[in-house]
Amino acid sequence: MKTYHYVIIGLVIFIALVSQCALPTAKEPVLSRLEQVEKCGSCHQDAYHNWKIGPHAQAYAKLEEHVDLVLNSDIFPEPYKGMIAQNPAVCKSCHVSENIFDTRLKGLEKEENMEKFTQAHYPEMMEFAVPRTDSTMFVTGIDCLTCHASGDKVLTTEDFKPSGQKMEGQCQPVASTFFTKNISCVSCHKFVVNDQEELAHQGMEIAQKTCNSCHQEYDSEGKGTHYYYWRHDPEDKVRPKNMRVFDVLDVQLKNQVLAVSWENTISPHSYSECGESIADIEVFNEAEELVFSTQARLNRKIYHDKDLQPLFKDEPVSGIEGYTFSPKQEPYEQSYKIEKRVKKGKIKITGKQKAQYWAKDDLAEVIYTREISF
Ligand code: HEC
Ligand code: HEC
Ligand code: HEC
Ligand code: HEC
Ligand code: HEC
Repeated sequence: MKTYHYVIIGLVIFIALVSQCALPTAKEPVLSRLEQVEKCGSCHQDAYHNWKIGPHAQAYAKLEEHVDLVLNSDIFPEPYKGMIAQNPAVCKSCHVSENIFDTRLKGLEKEENMEKFTQAHYPEMMEFAVPRTDSTMFVTGIDCLTCHASGDKVLTTEDFKPSGQKMEGQCQPVASTFFTKNISCVSCHKFVVNDQEELAHQGMEIAQKTCNSCHQEYDSEGKGTHYYYWRHDPEDKVRPKNMRVFDVLDVQLKNQVLAVSWENTISPHSYSECGESIADIEVFNEAEELVFSTQARLNRKIYHDKDLQPLFKDEPVSGIEGYTFSPKQEPYEQSYKIEKRVKKGKIKITGKQKAQYWAKDDLAEVIYTREISF
């Protein structure tokens, strides 16, 4: 062997040793996002279970289901298909988001920043949440880390007092004044906030209430269960009274006139930006024959069409304009003269819901029924 052979062998050994040192040590494997979420769940089983059957765990699955339906059915208008086909990151902003307190709201978890709760200090706080990019980890949707993580800490409610319990692994809870304030929900649920000024109030609470206090389920002792009511509530999750828009739809029949009125006395914010609620109102006589029928609908077509119009180009955006359910607006009032004489009978209300007002009504699912005898 020549000297340079020894040099080459020496070099090979040296590189092998160096690269060995650079490998991650076996002691602390880096957990994937999915593994981290499962790990949180292994200790916090109730919170995990209620998250899993609620809207946030399924945010990505439902987005995928929707994209599939749009591309493979005629329920949606053609121009909308084009946008979906390009699969823009814009949908993922809220349906598969980065940790909000590591991105747009970074710094807002700190008490000392209460004073600086303005857009001048947090220029990004009103922007859409940041979409995640690792598609192998989309399955967890809006997960524990999206809402709770702040670096390697876990944010929790301001009244949390550590028990001093020793924990292995990655749970270092930090009490945060901002954590249960509306600002963390508003990052994705923007429709409730109309301008920057409002955020200063609504970002904290609206009508002296937090989003949680209405939208989370509470147990008999008044403790939040970590379940959020949503459009696909399982049968055993019964919403409290007045947490359904159909609860406040009032229908009366007097002297052959059917009076329909819908007033928002239950929610401090307007109706969903994209969704639609449809009430089928039917009048039956004593012989159970249908003598009259009409519909009333809620949506925000009047506001949201302008965002969709560029997509639809010269075509008008599909859908029928509905009442916006704004707490500031006059109530919806309609009356109808019924030609066929009815003395006794019943009025049947069937409440249906769909996630996009511009989709055909075939998409609507029945979620509510009520009968009123007269
Ligand atoms: C600003 C945040 C945000 C963005 C961006 C966003 N969504 Fe959503 N999406 C929501 C919220 C919040 C809901 C549920 C509440 C509601 O209806 O207002 C929802 C509900 C839905 C639903 C109903 C799912 C179900 O449970 O049946 C579908 C489908 C959907 N979005 C599709 C999309 C698509 C497609 C895009 C992109 C074109 C998109 N979203 C962009 C926040 C967002
Ligand atoms: C959409 C945001 C969001 C997601 C996703 C989320 N949490 Fe929470 N979590 C909250 C909020 C808000 C509270 C405070 C609720 C309250 O004050 O009643 C909370 C409270 C908690 C608590 C303390 C109270 C309790 O219910 O025991 C635990 C533990 C918890 N979350 C764990 C988890 C775990 C584990 C996951 C993932 C499986 C998760 N969270 C996902 C927002 C979220
Ligand atoms: C090894 C078990 C374990 C793991 C893993 C774990 N936690 Fe915890 N967590 C606990 C315990 C125990 C407490 C109570 C700590 C105390 O009382 O001081 C706690 C406290 C919390 C709290 C505050 C509870 C309250 O009442 O306000 C939240 C929120 C939380 N964990 C979320 C998470 C999230 C999110 C993850 C995953 C990133 C996680 N935990 C992982 C055991 C765990
Ligand atoms: C990172 C984004 C994000 C954050 C933060 C977030 N959500 Fe959501 N939320 C969503 C998305 C996306 C959906 C729609 C899920 C679906 O149906 O596919 C949703 C659905 C819901 C629904 C059900 C709506 C419906 O029509 O079915 C409620 C209620 C809700 N969220 C409440 C909250 C509250 C309260 C908070 C704050 C504690 C919060 N969310 C924080 C993204 C978010
Ligand atoms: C006083 C109770 C109350 C408070 C506080 C409240 N909401 Fe609502 N919210 C409602 C009611 C009632 C509905 C209508 C439910 C339905 O669709 O039938 C609703 C609907 C929604 C929906 C579902 C979309 C829809 O229109 O069906 C979302 C998402 C939502 N609210 C988010 C929020 C967020 C985020 C906050 C905090 C900024 C908040 N809400 C504060 C009562 C409240």
